[in-house]
Amino acid sequence: MSLLEKVQAKSQEKKENPDFQTRVEEEKPIQKPDLISSFRPKKKVVETESDRDKKQDQKFNKHLELKNRLHKKILEEMNENDDVEQIIPNLDTMAIEIIKNDEMFRGAIDRKKVVEELVHDLTGFGPINPLLMDPEVTEVMVNGPDMVYIERKGKLMLTGVRFRDNDHIMNVIEKIVAPIGRRVDESSPMVDARLPDGSRVNAIIPPLALNGPTITIRKFSKDPFTIDNLVSFGTLTQEMATFIEACVKARLNIFVSGGTGSGKTTTLNVLSSFIFNDERIVTIEDAAELQLGQPHVISLESRPPNIEGKGAITIRDLVRNSLRMRPDRIVIGEVRGAEALDMLQAMNTGHDGSLATGHSNSPRDMISRLETMVLLAGVELPVKAIREQIAGAIDLIIQQSRLKDGTRKITKITEVQGLEGDVIVLQDIFEYQQEGVDAEGKIMGRLVPTGVRPKFYERLEQSGLDIPPSVFLPKEEWV
Ligand SMILES: Nc1ncnc2c1ncn2[C@@H]1O[C@H](COP(=O)(O)OP(=O)(O)O)[C@@H](O)[C@H]1O
Ligand SMILES: [Mg+2]
Repeated sequence: MSLLEKVQAKSQEKKENPDFQTRVEEEKPIQKPDLISSFRPKKKVVETESDRDKKQDQKFNKHLELKNRLHKKILEEMNENDDVEQIIPNLDTMAIEIIKNDEMFRGAIDRKKVVEELVHDLTGFGPINPLLMDPEVTEVMVNGPDMVYIERKGKLMLTGVRFRDNDHIMNVIEKIVAPIGRRVDESSPMVDARLPDGSRVNAIIPPLALNGPTITIRKFSKDPFTIDNLVSFGTLTQEMATFIEACVKARLNIFVSGGTGSGKTTTLNVLSSFIFNDERIVTIEDAAELQLGQPHVISLESRPPNIEGKGAITIRDLVRNSLRMRPDRIVIGEVRGAEALDMLQAMNTGHDGSLATGHSNSPRDMISRLETMVLLAGVELPVKAIREQIAGAIDLIIQQSRLKDGTRKITKITEVQGLEGDVIVLQDIFEYQQEGVDAEGKIMGRLVPTGVRPKFYERLEQSGLDIPPSVFLPKEEWV
């Protein structure tokens, strides 16, 4: 009998007879050492394996740690000297220095490999690479060779990063768009693309862009913000969070409205996260940004026309198609045009619980923009009929703003109550009151209930969602 067979036989016997060991010990004490020794080798193997794993983990961690430290150093250097291509030849020396100064790296790391990997990461997309790798940078904007802006912590900043000339930028654009089978030249001077990590890229070149080839990159955040994040940022209060969660669960049709970069998509993502796991969700976007955690999600992405101007699939096409996909929820990234009509019709014909965003400065403005968008659909509808559609479809508008200090706030949560005569009646439920600016330029203010309980309150109650009426009472509470 091999050792393995012995062990297996013993453990089988043990399983069948749980007091096997005790019995063995009592009846045949002489066999005890035998039993122990037959188990010992197995245990030892297990130990060494986990040891090896641990060692490899440690090695990998050190590898990452060195890479991170080097990267940090490069970012520091870049404050004085922005040309990453000048820093690259010194990377190895920098690595040697770090290793010399820190015991933990010595003999435990493949320096060449770290440096090679870093150079590769750094040169992929030229001078903007370090910015793309910097987790604090959320947006990178190239306005021609001498002007590269970034957004960091919500604030726009000019960097010293420079390209050699227009051709240098063109090379980078080509590198970005080539892998997805697109090209950029005079005949197609505008292009949307995505980086391998999911970041969204737009490039527009001369003669359309007068400052030179222009790139705008919205970096993909690997961990999308959660409702708890938004509450901790002060974007909304805990009460508002509970309220909008109930609104999503009660299948209200909700529109998030705001300016570019005000956090609409982020809020839409958070709203979508409240959808129940057993619902079939269809998302429709120009560039897939939403990251839903539910198991049953179909993501659709529109497509621009090809070089001959053919083959475009619009958001409107996708909205229409989605209605034939048995959706429980339709989530539209951004409503910009004729799709508004199809969306409103869907919302009015049983597809409740839909969510969307739109670009506008206030809930009232959103309504009038929607009116204009419906007209773009080319259907001759009297204004009153359009307003009826809007008032019947949309239950709630969440207005979001990017304040001057870079923070994002939900500035209004507004109920669409219905149509009175020719006028759509809006009622604010929560609103933001700005109260001044502190010494550091941070805007101070608070989000307060207006004291009005929404008309759809009963719908929340009927859905079994327990929102205490006190949520809607004004309170003296700073956020
Ligand atoms: N509530 C928030 N607080 C702070 N930053 C936010 C918030 N919401 C979004 N952001 C950041 O603002 C940027 C733009 O957000 P996004 O949701 O894409 O805006 P929009 O869809 O309105 O253009 C992103 O970099 C995102 O990480
Ligand atoms: Mg967006």
